[in-house]
Amino acid sequence: MSSRIVLITGANSGVGYATSQVLAQASKDFHVLMAGRSLEKLKTAKADIEAAGGLKGQLTTLELDVTREASIEKALRQVETEFGQLDVLINNAAVGNIDNNPRTRFEAVFQTNILGPVLVTEAFRPLLLKSQNPYSIYVSSGAGSISKTAKPTNYPEPPNADAYRSSKASLNMLAVYEYKTYKDKGLKVFPFCPGFVVSKLRGENEEMMNPGGLAGDPRVSGESILSIIQGERDGDVGKFVHKDGVYDW
Ligand SMILES: NC(=O)c1ccc[n+]([C@@H]2O[C@H](COP(=O)([O-])OP(=O)(O)OC[C@H]3O[C@@H](n4cnc5c(N)ncnc54)[C@H](OP(=O)(O)O)[C@@H]3O)[C@@H](O)[C@H]2O)c1
Repeated sequence: MSSRIVLITGANSGVGYATSQVLAQASKDFHVLMAGRSLEKLKTAKADIEAAGGLKGQLTTLELDVTREASIEKALRQVETEFGQLDVLINNAAVGNIDNNPRTRFEAVFQTNILGPVLVTEAFRPLLLKSQNPYSIYVSSGAGSISKTAKPTNYPEPPNADAYRSSKASLNMLAVYEYKTYKDKGLKVFPFCPGFVVSKLRGENEEMMNPGGLAGDPRVSGESILSIIQGERDGDVGKFVHKDGVYDW
């Protein structure tokens, strides 16, 4: 069997990095395209994964800034020329809560977290639909669940979370809409929450990467993504899935 080509945006860090590693260690059948906006960061990330060892599949770096059409077009041409198809598209790249100014906060977060996945998916979907078994995964967040947000909680809300939460609620809509539109063409779509895991989404210092030492291992998120693309979660296709089940919208 030829390799399954998996493109992960924002693959140089956190969930994207860990998922690249988990997939490449899982099977020789995966060829992971580690996409990101800095080729230098991607090369370092790929070298780190290779140095850790245990790889069965392949890793290739791919420069792709999800907010820039020219960058997306260039990456698309590269994938089209080298592979001719795509089997799994994982829209993972995102930014967190940016600043106190509502305009710049909403513009920056929606640029990356929504417009980014829209542009990337629109560009790559024709290649994805050439696959015998295509998966479209949107790395969302429980923070985007409207019903969860409406319930009282006993932990403090981080500041300026409005834009991030709204972007993930919106991402869920995008995923459901894509599923509704393309399921008859065989496209399996999953909005997926990776859980609260160590990453630089909240900031790059130790405390922000792992607040209170409570954040989990992003490899666990990668393992859930592996189970999705191996078909183990096909019963939940089109739903808002997490490691242990399904969230309400
Ligand atoms: N960590 C958690 O607890 C948690 C919880 C729920 C959901 N999530 C979701 O998990 C996903 C991954 O985030 P993470 O936690 O792993 O955070 P992260 O460590 O900050 O990784 C985010 C990645 O996105 C990339 N990125 C940002 N803007 C980009 C752009 N314009 N083009 C291409 N790549 C871009 C970053 O690249 P640079 O290095 O170049 O900035 C980085 O590689 C996100 O969708 C996030 O919302 C995370």
